[in-house]
Amino acid sequence: MQNKINEIKNYVIQKLSGINAQADCQALRVEILGKSGKLTELFKQLKDVPAEEKGKVGQILNAGKSEIDAIISNKEKELANAAIQNEINSAEKIDITLPTGAECGSLHPRTIIQREIEEVFTSMGFVVEDGNEVETEYNNFTAVNVPENHPARDMQDTFWLDNGEVLKTHTSASQNRILKKYTPPIRAIFPGRCFRNEDVDASHENTFFQLEGVIVDKDVSVGNLIYFMKEMLSKIFKKQVEVRLRPGFFPFTEPSFEMDVRCPFCDGKGCPTCKNGGWIELCPCGMIHPQVLRNSGIDPEKFSGCAFGLGLDRMTMLSTNLNDIRELNSGNLKLLKQFGVK
Ligand code: DAH
Repeated sequence: MQNKINEIKNYVIQKLSGINAQADCQALRVEILGKSGKLTELFKQLKDVPAEEKGKVGQILNAGKSEIDAIISNKEKELANAAIQNEINSAEKIDITLPTGAECGSLHPRTIIQREIEEVFTSMGFVVEDGNEVETEYNNFTAVNVPENHPARDMQDTFWLDNGEVLKTHTSASQNRILKKYTPPIRAIFPGRCFRNEDVDASHENTFFQLEGVIVDKDVSVGNLIYFMKEMLSKIFKKQVEVRLRPGFFPFTEPSFEMDVRCPFCDGKGCPTCKNGGWIELCPCGMIHPQVLRNSGIDPEKFSGCAFGLGLDRMTMLSTNLNDIRELNSGNLKLLKQFGVK
């Protein structure tokens, strides 16, 4: 019996050496181990073996079967792996260096300037926070000291949702959430999209971007505000800039200012960008009103703060020399991709 098994084994080994297709391997398996396979036939002969030898012959048969089965299985695995490898190597070959034919995207100029500003502020220890675009009426107005029926609400008419929430009119709407989230000392900036019910023209959009900043600590003063803004603007305009403050009014700051920068394009001599005035109005700001601090759970007797609301679109227009704010939301790729980083 052992001889017969060895014969079959050798036959299998010899056959397999010439097989390269999985289907041929499968056929050989049937030929040997199938219902009327060569080895199966040997098992059928077991019934004619004398009873006292049956056990031994049975063992020999089973061992032979396991061995032959393993030999065929190994070849099957080998062929399956080779088939996968073959697919990887030839059929699925993708040359990633070939041009796609499709146009590559680029960053929006506003995104580029926003990232630059974020980088400068984070290097000065500010966290970058996100703000909601849909805000509660409380956060957008009341928390920043613009109560119901206050005339300042008229300056920021916006889009109201049926549930009484609003599309935020300014990034100041996020002040309350962020001042509540941290405990002083706080240094945070939060860029975001804002909305107003505006007639659209070259310098007004109903959808625009601001970048708000807050600093809350012991003894924060206007000096801190000027320092941080000067640092940021000098890095963005890549030269030491001069700023000046004029009085302004905002319900959430006391005192409030308008910060101007000496025109970095003509150094104040007068040019079309500064409309020959030598200064560019850039950023409303001020000392955070004690009530705004109180609304966020911060004791104004212990801490003071300053805030600013930079117009990101305005900064973008300055850095790209665009003079129509509508271009920024236009989706005009011919124009916008001139400024984008590929
Ligand atoms: N939220 C104001 C606006 O959109 C801008 C502003 C003014 C923000 C003064 C400030 C600030 O943080 O201190 O018109």
